[in-house]
Amino acid sequence: MVAYVILAGSGFFIFRWIRQPANLPENQRRGAIATLATVHLGFGILMVLLILFLLAIGIVGTLGHFGNLGHSVHLPVGIVTVQLTLMSAWSAIQILQGKPWARQVHLICNGGIAIALLLALISGWSVVQKYLP
Ligand code: HEM
Ligand code: HEM
Repeated sequence: MVAYVILAGSGFFIFRWIRQPANLPENQRRGAIATLATVHLGFGILMVLLILFLLAIGIVGTLGHFGNLGHSVHLPVGIVTVQLTLMSAWSAIQILQGKPWARQVHLICNGGIAIALLLALISGWSVVQKYLP
């Protein structure tokens, strides 16, 4: 979620500075966008790795403990979160390859991730309760 917030912040300023030039000389504006895009891409890759890591921990841990999956709504919610994140990363690659339509896909996926991630957190937190004393 921390990675998501940093991505939302850096993405917001990339969005604004690409469309509506800030009060900066042109070369500084380009430099600022390039820096933001690097930070954005770095945290984007980090978020994808973290989400896949959480998926692996969830599946391996649950299989190890119960021998099967699907104990709560946390499973479908988790899978949707992973799918949206991978779609977002895929659309990011399309943006980098110069396909403008992918920007809209990227934003729609990211709105979905916000909801899915929150639901994964809430459902995960409620599942955690049965392991607490
Ligand atoms: C899944 C990981 C992510 C990756 C790999 C990624 C990567 C990228 C890339 C490569 C760009 C294009 C930057 C450029 O034009 O130079 C971009 C744009 C953007 N990203 Fe992400 N991003 C990710 C997640 C997110 C998230 C979670 C958000 C928001 C919550 C977000 C918001 C934005 C915004 C607002 C833009 C600007 C789009 C535009 O100019 O129309 N990104 N992203
Ligand atoms: C995007 C983030 C996450 C993903 C993709 C994910 C994925 C998964 C998956 C696929 C399972 C197996 C569920 C089953 O078969 O019923 C699982 C189990 C579990 N997850 Fe997550 N998870 C995420 C976040 C969280 C968070 C934030 C928490 C805690 C606050 C959490 C706590 C748990 C617990 C306690 C289990 C064991 C399930 C059980 O005992 O029924 N998860 N997770």
